[in-house]
Amino acid sequence: MVKYFPPPYRIKMIEPIKLPSVERRNQAIKEANYNLFNLNSEDIFIDLLTDSGTGAMSDKQWASLMVGDESYANAKSFYRLKSVVTDLTGFSEIIPTHQGRAAENILFGYILKDKPHSFVVSNQSFDTTVGHILYNKAYPKDLVVQESKEIDTTLPFKGNMDIKRLRELLETEHQNVSVITMVLTNNAGGGQPASIENLREVSMLARQYSIPFFIDASRVIENAYFIQQRENGFREKNLKTILHEMFDLADGMWMSAKKDAYVNIGGLIALNNKTFSDHLRDRLILFEGFPTYGGLAGRDLEAMATGLSEAVEGDVIAHRINQVEFLVNRLHEEGIPVVLPAGGHAAFIDAGKFLPHIPPNQFPAQALAVELYLQGGIRSVEIGSLMFGHQEGDRFIPAPLELLRLTIPRRVYEKAHFEFIIDTLLSIKKEKDKIKGYEITEESELLRHFTCKLRPLD
Ligand code: F0G
Repeated sequence: MVKYFPPPYRIKMIEPIKLPSVERRNQAIKEANYNLFNLNSEDIFIDLLTDSGTGAMSDKQWASLMVGDESYANAKSFYRLKSVVTDLTGFSEIIPTHQGRAAENILFGYILKDKPHSFVVSNQSFDTTVGHILYNKAYPKDLVVQESKEIDTTLPFKGNMDIKRLRELLETEHQNVSVITMVLTNNAGGGQPASIENLREVSMLARQYSIPFFIDASRVIENAYFIQQRENGFREKNLKTILHEMFDLADGMWMSAKKDAYVNIGGLIALNNKTFSDHLRDRLILFEGFPTYGGLAGRDLEAMATGLSEAVEGDVIAHRINQVEFLVNRLHEEGIPVVLPAGGHAAFIDAGKFLPHIPPNQFPAQALAVELYLQGGIRSVEIGSLMFGHQEGDRFIPAPLELLRLTIPRRVYEKAHFEFIIDTLLSIKKEKDKIKGYEITEESELLRHFTCKLRPLD
């Protein structure tokens, strides 16, 4: 059994939470049309929807807010952030955005401008990234290693790119590949990391064919921690050194700072090519704001700089990974199918396996999400065919796995919360055969899972 170590912090301020009555939960989920994004936060006891912007800031981050420079242009807070990011990544051109998808809008809107119908090759693009690729009339092409789809295969780097398939694709189609990306860690595939060895091979191929290579660095510090713990030759290296080795292999990165930078809002693009970055800044001014604030307040830039500097010290990341490992291993021991080994930011339950009587087109992970809310006031998120499945004519194309993500906000919940989550799932397990599937009654064209309405099937 994984030992749960005490966190490397103590609590200074609390936010009350309450388990609503069974009647209220039943009412609330109906009012939300069985889409947990539509639930009011007041109706939730433990919120595992996302680790994005939901973390607790440190005392030093709160203090940073007070020294934010709110000048419109060239605020000193920007230069502090720039120096922290350059120090961590080696990139000289730093572009702040208000969050990750804003960075995607700036970046993909430029890269894909004259390349309709091209491919964006990735280990596995996340939902908003897929949205931006499609919005720009290009296609996502995911080449994550096959083992990523086998939940029980406990390899250390299941977020790796399948190099053989990448090489084959580039041999025949390299003119149609506009950019290669690596999502670190691989959110859609269980929060699994990629190795430096794999990044090296991706980088070599990208350079051989002169294709830009960008890292989605939203959880890159967690990925660096996994490299330190799992990859030969990295045990003695600190996270900053490992981050440099990773970023040296890429042309640039973008990130949602709402994850590993421990802030409630923020994003970034970083790269070295000045001309390229100037094109991005033109778009930044149009969509976000002046290049030194990019849709954020000066105080947000300060909090982000402090958050990044603290995260890379490693203690909080180690505790966080320990929390996730505790939850994942306990669920595994209790016979609940989870993606193994534990990833960086969440436990991913294989709802396809847990509820084999519900087919993918009836969204088993969504059915489990609704049940988890009804039984424990716990909000989780479907990462399966509701998020990634689609229709091709009459054919339903399911997601590779029907996952339910129990996402762990940073520095928010403690061991007793995890015990409660495990107990709730165990009580669901006893009567899981009674859970019914769902159908969509209303949906949008892109990113439907955020707003769609559902109905339980009889
Ligand atoms: N890239 C990855 C890997 C992400 O996980 C996310 C967001 C984004 C980009 C977009 O960033 O939200 O700041 O605009 N993921 C969140 C999640 C929303 O719940 O996993 P954003």
